Amino acid sequence: MINRFLDPYDAGNTNVLGDLGSLATYLNEGRLTFIGPEDLSEVALRSSWRVTEEEDSGKIVGMVALSPNHAPRGFFGLIADMVVRPEYRRKGIAGKLLDDIVKEAKRQRMRWLCAMINPDQEAAKLFLKKGFVPDANGGLRLDISSP
Ligand SMILES: CC(C)(COP(=O)(O)OP(=O)(O)OC[C@H]1O[C@@H](n2cnc3c(N)ncnc32)[C@H](O)[C@@H]1OP(=O)(O)O)[C@@H](O)C(=O)NCCC(=O)NCCS
Repeated sequence: MINRFLDPYDAGNTNVLGDLGSLATYLNEGRLTFIGPEDLSEVALRSSWRVTEEEDSGKIVGMVALSPNHAPRGFFGLIADMVVRPEYRRKGIAGKLLDDIVKEAKRQRMRWLCAMINPDQEAAKLFLKKGFVPDANGGLRLDISSP
């Protein structure tokens, strides 16, 4: 497995867009999301999308987005759209994607990361394991202001 960021060339790659569209259907486990395949190239270019790609086939099997945000208390990152294809789960793929995104957020000098995930959700366990804590808005937060 190879982890990489999407780049402008991906926006014109129908295989990549097909894989992302297919992955997006598993977001919220089948419930409707605001992202449709037609939006993916736009969204992917505006945020940092880290993806996990199968080495031989080039198939994208996992993704997570990091979006920059500014608040009165500083520059922070919003983590969204984390998803791994069902047949590839519980192999550490999302954990590695999350580690990469935290590293990237520090590189961009973000002060904290925020994930809008209910702490009771199963997926929250992964974030809690990585040091995120419940915040006042009902999501999860990781302070990365100190090096
Ligand atoms: C949440 C999700 C991204 C996890 O992907 P994954 O690649 O299977 O996660 P990892 O293998 O890296 O998991 C690492 C750890 O997180 C925890 N974890 C991950 N998924 C879990 C689950 N469904 N239930 C309980 N713990 C879980 C475990 O502690 C796991 O370690 P372990 O396998 O050694 O016990 C995946 O289940 C998914 O795509 N779910 C549907 C979409 C979703 O809910 N996304 C999150 C909201 S944006």
